[in-house]
Amino acid sequence: MIVVIDGPAGSGKSSTARAVAERTGFTFLDSGAFYRAITLLYLRNHKNQELFFDQMKSCDLQVEFNDGRFSIRLNGETVTELIRDKEVSANVSTVAAMPQAREFVNTHLREFVKDGSFIADGRDLGTAVFPDADLKFFFDASVEKRAERRLNEMLLNGQQTDLEAVKLNIRERDHIDSTRKVAPLRKADDAIVVDTGLLTLEEQIQFVINTVKGR
Ligand code: CDP
Repeated sequence: MIVVIDGPAGSGKSSTARAVAERTGFTFLDSGAFYRAITLLYLRNHKNQELFFDQMKSCDLQVEFNDGRFSIRLNGETVTELIRDKEVSANVSTVAAMPQAREFVNTHLREFVKDGSFIADGRDLGTAVFPDADLKFFFDASVEKRAERRLNEMLLNGQQTDLEAVKLNIRERDHIDSTRKVAPLRKADDAIVVDTGLLTLEEQIQFVINTVKGR
């Protein structure tokens, strides 16, 4: 079974999907983490596209979901925390707009869900990556609400930032993600829309679990 949650930055997809996975035994798949990990490669190659594509093609990307924790390794290096860095957030949507990068990530995502039950979050999962998913959700909320939540999350993780910087990054990524040519951020026709600005995290989790159980 595959359940997908798409939506803009900070709409609560990852925290909801992770909690649903822990409580249901599904495996959580964070598709954004793949884009973030290859963005590290892009930055380490000083944004030289040719070098970046070369290294991307031969890189070893491994993800794991164990004891409620999702982790990602790039060429043997655990980059789970590093990929949340401001510099990565500022460049990830540029990388994610490159068709070669999307093809690379999609191959990994489809490979990962070969056996078992999965709950995955992203931007284009219901429309492009898993159009036959068993259940599709689209989470959304105002920029203000999303920025507040993301700020709290970052401060809790010890990152230095402020509301305006977070809002700016969210706005920029929303714009690039929804206007790119290949697989833009878009609600699938058969997705259930959830306004997460009106719900608590626990309510979101329960709503998804109850809908999954209803299937
Ligand atoms: O968690 P947050 O909403 O901040 O973003 P993320 O899920 O970590 O994704 C980071 C970026 O990767 C997004 O802003 C998109 O540019 C890109 N992305 C994408 O293009 N397609 C996906 N399925 C997932 C992420």
